[in-house]
Amino acid sequence: MGFREDFLWGVATSAYQIEGAQNKLNKGLSIWDVYVRENNKIYDGHTGDIACNHIQTYKEDVKMMKDMGIKSYRFSIDWSRVIPDGYGNVNEEGMAFYDSLINELVKAQIEPCITLYHWELPYEIYKKGGWLNEDIVQWFGRYAGIIAERFSDRVKFFFTMNEPQCFIGLGYLNGVHAPGLKVNLRDTFEMAHNVMKAHGRAVQMIREKSKRDVLVGYAPTCGMTYPYSNSKEDIEATRKVMFSIPEADNWTWNISWWSDPVMLGKYPEEGLMKYEQYLPKITEEDMKLISEPIDIYGQNIYNGRCIRMGEDGRPVDVKRKDGYARTANNWPVTPECLYWGPKFLYERYKKPIYITENGMSAHDVISKDSHVHDDARIEFTRKYLSELKKASEDGVDIRGYFHWSLMDNFEWDKGYSERFGLVYVDYETQQRVLKDSAYWYKDVIKNNGNNL
Ligand code: FCB
Repeated sequence: MGFREDFLWGVATSAYQIEGAQNKLNKGLSIWDVYVRENNKIYDGHTGDIACNHIQTYKEDVKMMKDMGIKSYRFSIDWSRVIPDGYGNVNEEGMAFYDSLINELVKAQIEPCITLYHWELPYEIYKKGGWLNEDIVQWFGRYAGIIAERFSDRVKFFFTMNEPQCFIGLGYLNGVHAPGLKVNLRDTFEMAHNVMKAHGRAVQMIREKSKRDVLVGYAPTCGMTYPYSNSKEDIEATRKVMFSIPEADNWTWNISWWSDPVMLGKYPEEGLMKYEQYLPKITEEDMKLISEPIDIYGQNIYNGRCIRMGEDGRPVDVKRKDGYARTANNWPVTPECLYWGPKFLYERYKKPIYITENGMSAHDVISKDSHVHDDARIEFTRKYLSELKKASEDGVDIRGYFHWSLMDNFEWDKGYSERFGLVYVDYETQQRVLKDSAYWYKDVIKNNGNNL
């Protein structure tokens, strides 16, 4: 018992957060390249221009992963690096980089997992309306097909979108991520519908262009929920909140609006009613495209809310304890969400689950002995993985876990002020230092989690 024998132990990163070389190799502009140059948007004026300089250090970085015993690497392709305007010519220099990265991974026996969209919308597409322009469905599909055609001989795992909740919610509703807009609700729903359709079109194109059978997935996020007690009532209340639909002003932060269409072929009834006045036209054909069958379900999980059944038969949020555990960026530490989250998701969607991201930000320092003693990260990950293991033992089909992140990197609007890595990065020298958690994770992988 425990994790499956072939459990995929991984780490995750994304292109803009680590690559650097934003104006090199003929890359086109993405909305992040433009957004980071606006005043007072990013912590201390940081940009991803250099980031972890991964474009130049990828060979060493792959070797480092191999030394860490990593079995799988989830990385993203920057759309604007391989198709500079998003829809026109393919940039062979950009393709060559990913081609070579994949070769290094294969040589190191590390399973490459591609994410197609981790937020680098080509700026030229943005100028044409971005997610509001329905043509993006075909443009994204074409891009997905080009990537699948080129790399599917060596890559088996393809995730379409990373966290639509965030790139629509933070990008267009409250404007803290690129492109930094606050648009009207109607537009956000239309964009979201195009995101869904683009996902479906990408699934079709990956299947059509792949050179062999591949596994296609999706990687949404959201807070999970977990019950206050094991009573039937509390569990029922928790399940209900997990898939509930929020008020329109913060509508993107939920699971079912983004996952039901993909997995079940329909938007949740509660949302269709609540959001009716803002919705675009949704056709049967759209729903067919959106629910083009996928093979695996990815979910990024960081934390959750504790729920119990109230006296009046309605679910209530249980207040967090005074002094509850938090990470450096103030996210609560709630390991239970890695048991209940996958459990509820599996019940509802019935597909193999991969935790495509999980991890924490900490105030890491290099100690006098030249090591980084990040005990908090070890404890965090130990507790979360123990819950995930319990879920696996209880019959939830869990196939993999990707720690966020391989190394410290550009944390979007927080710049380099948050450190999420198993590996410490000194941004001045680009030196990497394996944190204690990296050695600990290596041991966990070696024992397939039996020593948690
Ligand atoms: C997720 C993002 C990832 C990283 C982590 C901390 O929301 O997908 O890029 O920023 O949070």
